[in-house]
Formats: sequence, structure tokens, C-alpha cells
Amino acid sequence: METEQKLLMKVLNGEKISRPPFWLMRQAGRYLPEYRKIRSTTENFLDFCYNPELSVEAALQPLRRYQFDAAILFSDILVIPDALGQKVIFRAGEGPILDPIKSENELKFLSLRKFHNHLDRVYETVSILSKKIPRETTLIGFSGSPWTLATYMVEGKGSKDFSKARIWAYYDPINFEKLINILTEAVSIYIIKQIAYGAEVIQLFDTWAGILSGSQFDSWVIKPTRNIIKNVRSVYPKVPILGFPRGAGVSYKSFVEKTGVNGISLDSSVPIEWASINLQTKCAVQGNLDNMALVAGGETMEIEVHNILKGFSSGPHIFNLGHGILPQTPPENVKKLSDIILNWQK
Ligand code: CP3
Repeated sequence: METEQKLLMKVLNGEKISRPPFWLMRQAGRYLPEYRKIRSTTENFLDFCYNPELSVEAALQPLRRYQFDAAILFSDILVIPDALGQKVIFRAGEGPILDPIKSENELKFLSLRKFHNHLDRVYETVSILSKKIPRETTLIGFSGSPWTLATYMVEGKGSKDFSKARIWAYYDPINFEKLINILTEAVSIYIIKQIAYGAEVIQLFDTWAGILSGSQFDSWVIKPTRNIIKNVRSVYPKVPILGFPRGAGVSYKSFVEKTGVNGISLDSSVPIEWASINLQTKCAVQGNLDNMALVAGGETMEIEVHNILKGFSSGPHIFNLGHGILPQTPPENVKKLSDIILNWQK
């Protein structure tokens, strides 16, 4: 059977393997000169994401250099607000810009009516990729999670503390929940479509989970994630789902217990020993090399990598970074990392 050759699927199915599968968040992107070259053909980043030819090429580029065990759909989390009718643009050097949703009044402009239609070309990218990647490579689809999507939609841009969304969630939780519920539905149907078009594993990015208080984490991270997983499993009970509530700290434990994820992506602040005792006994762990260590390279990076490999060797582990690869990462450091993992023996 096809999946038997795929290391990443094996780990997520609980099978024993000799070395952990690996891929890197943002493995396609600006650290690669060949990416910068094709990226320069399009001004608005979302237009690049909606071009299947370019997006497929971007996703395949890192696979030509390194033996990653997974390819990730090349797109962005902000296609969701865009498809719901909130205009999103990326200006060079500025990051994303959205017309902010300030209150209940603007919620009525969000609609699922043209959602799939708008994302047609993303689904096409998934479909082409599923046919083009090597047999032993797993195709990962992804979405932003409702909380992280809401932070950008309410703030209208990137931010250090996303205070607008956090304050709204406190003073008007009823209407903030309406936004979260719209996003929960949108993310669910988006993921279900990605699976229908060939995604084999899904990762949910909740990049800003760690800025919430403990009680708010339950309401805006755990609850919507659990609902999305329930919705997806009602259609595809067996497709593994990885959660990434970045910066969640000790709340990683309740996230794993209450959402039912098949794997948990760890940021680099999470101690390996703590995670192996408290999380790896419940699901697969993914991570968690500091992306700065990969920029630095050299002997310290090698030591860090070995510590992670060893520390997670007693259970299911997918090697990855603690957050996306940085644009200034030397591609030769990625090669070195890949050599260490490919030659690792438990
Ligand atoms: O290789 C992959 O991992 C797949 C592609 C991918 C991108 N964005 C491409 C991208 C994925 C999975 C994402 C997720 C994403 N996008 C997240 C969650 C993960 C994380 O890194 O925290 C978030 C918060 C975004 C939103 C976003 N996209 C921001 C804030 C920015 C601007 C900042 C920046 O890094 O430039 C982006 C742009 C973006 N998304 C780029 C890429 C390759 C760079 C744009 C470019 O090449 O011009």
C-alpha cells in the first residue's frame, strides 16, 4: 500500500521507524534564491498564492534540494479572510494589510457564499501537488486557526500584542464568538476540501495562541480547534491533524487532551523532557529546533539537533523547527540538518 512507504504517515499511525520524518515550517520561501526569483514575478503575495503554477513550483523547490518527508501546500493563512470578503493585501516589506473588523457591524460583510469559488485555485494547487510529489512524500494541507485569523482580521495588520482582538474578546465576548464561529465553519470546510483534493495530513497554525490568558485560551483556542477537528472527522475520520498553538506553555497539555489532535507542533521554548513525559505519551510530537539555531549553524546547532532527536526517541516524533524558517537561513545549514537526521540511528 502507498502509505506504507511514507515515513510521516507511519509515525502518525503509531508505527515504529528507525529515524524521525522531517520537514520544516516555511520550507518553501525566501531563504531559497530560486524562490526569490519566481516570487519577483508577482507583486501582491496573494496573487502568487492564487496562481497554481507558481505555488506548485514554490512547494516543489525545497524537495529538489532536500529529502524532506513532507511537502506543504504553498499558500497563506490569510486567504481565509480574503475568501470571506475582507480584502487582504501584502505590501513589500510591510506584511499583510486588511480593512479591520472593529465590531459586530462589520461581521455582516463576511460571507461563505463565494468562499470555495474564491479558493478554487488553492484546491487546484493541492490537487496538482498530490500528483507531482515523490511517492514517499506526504502532502500537508493547512489552515490558520480561528484565533490567529481573528487577530489579523481585527487588528488589520500584524502586531506585537494584538490588543484589539484581545480587548474585544473581553468586553464583547458574544459578538467576538460570532466571528470565531464564522471562522470555525470556514476553516472546517476549507480543510475538508483540501483533503478531498489530496491533502494527507492537516496542520492548524495558531501562531498567536500564546498571548491569551489561561481562561481565554480555553474559549478561543481549545474550543474552536476541538470543533474544527470534530467537523473534519465527521467526514474524514482518519486524516491526521497536527495542532500548533505556538507559545501555549503548560497549556500545551490541555490542548492535546481536549482537542484530540493526532500530533502537536512545539515551539522551541518547550522543554524536551517535559514534552516527552506530558505530551508524547498522548500523541505524536513535532519540533522543536530554534529557527535561530538553524541560522547560526555550526557545532551548537548539531548539539541542539542531537538533543532533540535523542530526547524524543522513545515515542512518535516528527522533526521540525519551533517556528518558520527565517529568510536569512543559509541553505547549506538546512543541508547539514538534513544529513544529521537522515543518518540518525536510535
Ligand atoms: O512553506 C510553508 O510553510 C508553506 C507556506 C506558508 C506561508 N505562510 C507562506 C508565506 C505557510 C504555512 C504560512 C502560514 C502563515 N502565514 C502563518 C502561520 C505560521 C507562522 O509562520 O506563524 C502566519 C501568521 C501567516 C501570515 C503571514 N504571511 C505574515 C504575517 C506574512 C508577512 C511576514 C513575512 O514573513 O513576510 C506572510 C507572508 C508569507 N507567507 C511569505 C511566505 C513565503 C513571505 C511573502 C513573500 O515571499 O513575499
